[in-house]
Amino acid sequence: MDPLPIHTIICLVCWSFCLLPFYASSSSRLLPDKPLSAGSTITSDDGTFALGFFSPSSSSTKYYYVGIWYRNIPEDNVVWVANRAMPITDPSSATLAFTSGSNLALSDTSGQLLWTTNISAARNSSSEATGGEATLDNNGNFILRSSHGTILWQSFDYPTDTHLPGMNLRITHKMHALQQLISWRNPQDPSPGNFSYSADPDEFRQRITWNGSTPYRRSLVWNNNLVVGKYIESIKSTIYYTLQIIGDEVYASFGLPVPSVSVVLMKIDYLGKMKTQIWNSNSSKWTDLYSGPNQECNKFGYCGPSGYCDNTQPIVTCKCFDGFEPNNKQDWMARRFSQGCHRMEALRCGQGDGFLNMSTMKIPDQFLYVKNRSLDECIAECTSNCSCMAYAYSTMRTNAIDEDDTRCLLWIGDLIDTEKFIGQGENLYIRVNGLSGTVYCFCFSACFIRYTPLFVCPVELQ
Ligand SMILES: *[C@@H]1O[C@H](CO)[C@@H](O)[C@H](O)[C@H]1NC(C)=O
Ligand SMILES: *[C@@H]1O[C@H](CO)[C@@H](O)[C@H](O)[C@H]1NC(C)=O
Ligand SMILES: *[C@@H]1O[C@H](CO)[C@@H](O)[C@H](O)[C@H]1NC(C)=O
Ligand SMILES: *[C@@H]1O[C@H](CO)[C@@H](O)[C@H](O)[C@H]1NC(C)=O
Ligand SMILES: *[C@@H]1O[C@H](CO)[C@@H](O)[C@H](O)[C@H]1NC(C)=O
Ligand SMILES: *[C@@H]1O[C@H](CO)[C@@H](O)[C@H](O)[C@H]1NC(C)=O
Ligand SMILES: *[C@@H]1O[C@H](CO)[C@@H](O)[C@H](O)[C@H]1NC(C)=O
Ligand SMILES: *[C@@H]1O[C@H](CO)[C@@H](O)[C@H](O)[C@H]1NC(C)=O
Repeated sequence: MDPLPIHTIICLVCWSFCLLPFYASSSSRLLPDKPLSAGSTITSDDGTFALGFFSPSSSSTKYYYVGIWYRNIPEDNVVWVANRAMPITDPSSATLAFTSGSNLALSDTSGQLLWTTNISAARNSSSEATGGEATLDNNGNFILRSSHGTILWQSFDYPTDTHLPGMNLRITHKMHALQQLISWRNPQDPSPGNFSYSADPDEFRQRITWNGSTPYRRSLVWNNNLVVGKYIESIKSTIYYTLQIIGDEVYASFGLPVPSVSVVLMKIDYLGKMKTQIWNSNSSKWTDLYSGPNQECNKFGYCGPSGYCDNTQPIVTCKCFDGFEPNNKQDWMARRFSQGCHRMEALRCGQGDGFLNMSTMKIPDQFLYVKNRSLDECIAECTSNCSCMAYAYSTMRTNAIDEDDTRCLLWIGDLIDTEKFIGQGENLYIRVNGLSGTVYCFCFSACFIRYTPLFVCPVELQ
């Protein structure tokens, strides 16, 4: 082999010297004259996340996608996918590049467009319509900015199946659409699967996992606090769940207090389980801090109306509220619970009825939220209306949504999708006849004291 001409050597030396710092500083950025192709990645400044081409498939037919993943986590590390439903079969000349406008576009080897940020140039002045750069932030957000620095598009606005700390998920839909997470089809296929996760369109205080368009699992109901913390022993840290009002809409986010080395995320898996996971670097495994539904019984409405899933027993199963019995005893014995329960005795409204206190409950679906009520007013609201079957009440310390620090919920009609837990949940007060206690409700206080742990007479409470 001929020796390299001297000018080539000089050039090469120069290149490495000149380009090293350049590469180092631009590695988190995609620039208009530097398209991304298979085999190269861009990396967030702190090295946590990478963006590039990947293939999730272990089979011989490989499909390729552009996505974002945790660089230092070897498994289940993908947090965002651009071309979920439009895989690349031949990645050799596929590129992620700036278009002549301010968009990013992913094209396959034959030049076919597979995905684009699709921002219309008309959205802003032509001076903005020249691409500046796209950067991968340390929190995993891929941000496209105009040459003036305006954010034109960001991956956090288009989540796939994963909610990352720092990302806001829109849970109201006054002016914009609800945001949702959509599961992968299977672990090898990021195309949209059967399951999704979003706020209940009718009630942002609860989130729903959907199987297609059918509710599959419902979350606990949010109290009106803007921030709720949950201490996690294994990481000796608290996870914060936060609601934030930005413009007209409410957004949900979560995260750990700032200097934190733990990796935590929320994700809907291909089987429909909504998980909060933490990366355990000791065992090199994801640990589920929370995963639901865990049992058949935790699925939406599994125990039918006026039935509840009792998670406090070794064998988790459906039960009827006290004073109720199964609608279909044969079905119930055969562990088919969907027909639920009915009252053994018709309600005698206003004639010594009261409320059964059930603690540590996931309160039912389809509640009526009555604003600005004290506890007594909330009880009176339910007591005075014979259609009111139950109530639940909470007050917030500070920083309540809508500046209303009360949360009075009433149920008119069936009580659906109720559960009992150990150590979490809230008190649910279900309207029942006084049974033998009826008499005592009209008696002086001393007579009904023995009923108070379970049974609350509305009259005496006020
Ligand atoms: C871009 O967006 C417009 C309207 O928002 C839509 O009609 C069009 O199909 C989109 N194009 C692509 C390639 O996604
Ligand atoms: C449009 O451009 C103006 C300045 O030229 C900027 O302030 C504004 O944020 C841009 N809007 C969008 C949606 O990019
Ligand atoms: C997804 O739904 C289809 C039909 O709607 C069903 O055949 C398939 O089993 C479902 N997959 C999962 C994982 O539930
Ligand atoms: C989701 O719904 C489909 C029917 O639409 C059903 O076949 C499938 O079993 C359901 N999946 C689960 C996990 O319940
Ligand atoms: C990893 O091991 C260290 C030392 O044994 C322990 O303090 C830490 O809690 C472990 N981390 C996790 C996530 O379990
Ligand atoms: C209902 O029960 C819970 C738990 O036992 C208790 O903390 C709460 O005070 C009770 N409510 C009433 C009104 O007695
Ligand atoms: C809340 O109710 C009280 C009376 O019960 C009333 O004086 C007050 O104006 C109400 N506040 C709001 C924000 O509606
Ligand atoms: C009871 O409350 C429901 C729901 O607010 C209402 O539609 C109904 O008219 C009320 N009934 C009475 C008797 O006030």
